[in-house]
Amino acid sequence: MAKTTQAAAANFDPLARVYRALEIVAFGGDLERARFCLLPRLAGCRSILILGEGDGRCAERLLTVAPSARIHCVDSSPAMIAQAKARVAGKGGGERVTFECADVLGREFPVAGHDAVVTLFFLDCFEPEQAEAVVGRIAAALQPGARWLFADFVRPEKGLARLRARLWLAVLYAFFRWQTGLRVRALPPSEMLIEKAGFEGIAAATFQHGLLRTRLFVENRQSRIEKIQRC
Ligand SMILES: C[S@@+](CC[C@H](N)C(=O)[O-])C[C@H]1O[C@@H](n2cnc3c(N)ncnc32)[C@H](O)[C@@H]1O
Repeated sequence: MAKTTQAAAANFDPLARVYRALEIVAFGGDLERARFCLLPRLAGCRSILILGEGDGRCAERLLTVAPSARIHCVDSSPAMIAQAKARVAGKGGGERVTFECADVLGREFPVAGHDAVVTLFFLDCFEPEQAEAVVGRIAAALQPGARWLFADFVRPEKGLARLRARLWLAVLYAFFRWQTGLRVRALPPSEMLIEKAGFEGIAAATFQHGLLRTRLFVENRQSRIEKIQRC
């Protein structure tokens, strides 16, 4: 059983068909750029877990980018999963991509099951303690040296960019609350949680004046332990 309890996950079904169009209206192609600019760094992976996959664009892209990978997608929205299945069908996806409709907060992950995990605009759906539980549980289950591809909204450090981000985040969280019932109102410290779980950032890119950031992390617990022991 999962250690974290909560009300049912937000229901993204109403957005499944329009999600892509909405993001283009709001941010042009920048969400797509943030999602995929570091994706080629997963090329050699063989077992990739996508959490909160959404409408299947990442799984579809990974079929080409990581030709040897099996891809497992978890999402709590049946309508998103239906979109994703339709998207990858006929592109070799039937063989290599599997789907699971589940709330990640209620899901255990098999230890050493995957050599990469992808969380794109997903961890922002959680309160800080929920995000910490999800990150910790996944981190513990990944293979040594595993990769973590992250993309999400972030708050820039200062200035007009920070003010702009504050306004956008207020609008976005209000919108998702209205459409999906999402109760979260602020970003969790996702990148810090991933680092705390033993991962080291090795590449990053930002878009939209710092509002969108993608980072590639590599599991590095052993070197952290060695550093602590040397101190
Ligand atoms: C903001 S969308 C992002 C979708 C996609 N990753 C992208 O880059 O656009 C969040 C996705 O996470 C899923 N989701 C939200 N909370 C979840 C949970 N607790 N367990 C599993 N999936 C969840 C939603 O159904 C939705 O498809």
